[in-house]
Amino acid sequence: MRKKITVIGAGNVGASCATRLADKELGDVVIVDILEGVPTGKGLDIRQSCPVEGSDVKVVGTNDYQETANSDIVVVTAGFARKPGMSRDDLLWANYEVVASTVRQAVQHSPNAILIVVTNPLDAMCHVAWKVSGFPKNRVVGMAGILDTARFRAFLAEALDVSVESVVAFVLGGHGDTMVPLVRYTSVAGIPVTDLLDEATLHQIVERTRFGGGEIVKYLKTGSAYYAPSAATVEMVESILKDKKKVLPCSVLLEGEYGINGLFVGVPVKLGASGVEKIYEIKLTEEERAALHKSAAAVQELVNVMKPKLEAAGA
Ligand code: NAI
Ligand code: 2OP
Repeated sequence: MRKKITVIGAGNVGASCATRLADKELGDVVIVDILEGVPTGKGLDIRQSCPVEGSDVKVVGTNDYQETANSDIVVVTAGFARKPGMSRDDLLWANYEVVASTVRQAVQHSPNAILIVVTNPLDAMCHVAWKVSGFPKNRVVGMAGILDTARFRAFLAEALDVSVESVVAFVLGGHGDTMVPLVRYTSVAGIPVTDLLDEATLHQIVERTRFGGGEIVKYLKTGSAYYAPSAATVEMVESILKDKKKVLPCSVLLEGEYGINGLFVGVPVKLGASGVEKIYEIKLTEEERAALHKSAAAVQELVNVMKPKLEAAGA
């Protein structure tokens, strides 16, 4: 039997995810949105691309969560995207309501699903999804690190004129301007990147990575990135559904790892059939650890302001 994936939100990220999921034949796809007609129309359109792509999956769009029943994976992309001048954190209250209500409805129909959260501010929205769903921590995971790392890899590959496939890198921390691109763990086919690029160039690339999302918002003006975000999300879905056990930077609930407790923060994890199967605690220098803790403190601030509301909702 084919796997079933629900994508909540038929906007830029959601529709791009659904298209990539169908193209890769990863499973049947149900797209849900609050807007009438839009998910149905986009679902039909994507379904009609399947004969061209040679993909035998069903794709439907709906406003009705009943159609999402028994999904293996639920991807949450519903919510507002930022506009120029806004930070991801400015989306907190609007997206709190959206994520809480959509997750509540989705998990009623798919109590065994794995939740992949995309909506911003990412790490805080993972917290909301985890609390509202009541799911164990291995079944709630946020997408950000793969995107941030992909940006880092793309900029490095361009600077070095090498294949993006040869660049191995990762970015730790929350999905915000305090994220921590780890230069020390970054290599080109095993060659430390510090041997290949001078400090000033590396610094410039790290800064561009940190503000990579904002750079795109400035150009688009009416929304934020979605091609790379959807590619990153689908890599997570694929690793879970095919039990590939890829090691990827994702936002997960830390319970003491890296000295952080009770917060979703981006760290390297193994993603397989059970969701988050392992959290890797790598050695950090004092400076890197301080940067990670600064990033976690930014997530903690958002969690603190949401706490009364979550408690009042019994979550
Ligand atoms: P978009 O505006 O294109 O689409 C959002 C969709 O959510 C709309 O179709 C809207 O109707 C729907 N929606 C709103 N409230 C809803 C509800 N209660 N139930 C169902 N659907 C609802 O936005 P886009 O570009 O798709 O971004 C979506 C979210 O993903 C934003 O919060 C954005 O910041 C975030 N994002 C996060 C990334 C990450 O790295 N974690 C990367 C890219 C985007
Ligand atoms: C990004 O980094 C909007 O968070 C999203 O592009």
